[in-house]
Amino acid sequence: MTDLNDAVREHYRAGGLTERLKTALSVLGPEDQPLTPQQLGALDQFHTRGLAATAELAKLAAITAAMSVLDVGSGIGGPARFLAATCGCRVVGVDLSASFVDAARYLTERTGQSGQVSFRTASALELPFDDGGFDVVLLQHVAMNISNRAQLYREIRRVLKSGGRFATFDVVSKGGTPRYPLPWARMEATSFLLTAAATRAVIEASGFRALVWQDDTESAKAWITQLGASGPLPSPNLGVVMGPEFAELAANLGRNLLEGRLGILTAVFEATSAAGC
Ligand SMILES: C[S@@+](CC[C@H](N)C(=O)[O-])C[C@H]1O[C@@H](n2cnc3c(N)ncnc32)[C@H](O)[C@@H]1O
Repeated sequence: MTDLNDAVREHYRAGGLTERLKTALSVLGPEDQPLTPQQLGALDQFHTRGLAATAELAKLAAITAAMSVLDVGSGIGGPARFLAATCGCRVVGVDLSASFVDAARYLTERTGQSGQVSFRTASALELPFDDGGFDVVLLQHVAMNISNRAQLYREIRRVLKSGGRFATFDVVSKGGTPRYPLPWARMEATSFLLTAAATRAVIEASGFRALVWQDDTESAKAWITQLGASGPLPSPNLGVVMGPEFAELAANLGRNLLEGRLGILTAVFEATSAAGC
């Protein structure tokens, strides 16, 4: 597991990220001028369909202001800030990448949300929280970095209250061999894709019951086509986060989706009282 965590940390190392973000954001105004989560939406949502996908997932999970939400694999914190701003909930994000967590904290100070949104550097496989503390857990475009899915979903179940909701929005295999490099892995050895059906089986065996089950592939393909799949990047601003080679990684994701090698799954589960084996 440590070797795999090291590979993920290396992939998302993003040295000097906070400084790059400061420079990129200087066009929006001086450092002491507050920013809104929506203003950051073009560079802080590290998944297909960006802010729109986060907004839809929050709606499907029926997140309200009274809820405490955990965002697992929170990246640079865009989904966490957006949920706090639009739903009024408290959000904690955890991510394996220390530089992503540093950038997430910086951006959250810039939006003035540090009292409502916080971040910790930690592994999704060993969440640093007591049992049953969260109403909702979010997992967006993270599972394909994780080989031990049973442990991932068991950890998510452990930190959720009984009856709490687990909302996932992830890349799945459609059966074909994907073209690499991809935004989450430069090679097959560090990419752990499951089909949608296999994903559902592992999640349900971890103590969950499906409430929402949607194939989001066509929406992702429409988004990529609209942005211009032949262009350099589906999400131009993510180059600030991942560096100039992100253009190639993102274009490959687009190609794999359009060629039917990969798909996108949206699902919401309810935590049942008894976990499976
Ligand atoms: C593609 S990004 C998605 C970030 C965020 N969920 C979003 O949608 O904006 C994948 C994130 O998962 C994190 N990650 C991958 N494996 C992880 C693990 N085992 N534990 C915690 N975070 C992990 C990475 O560091 C990265 O920030």
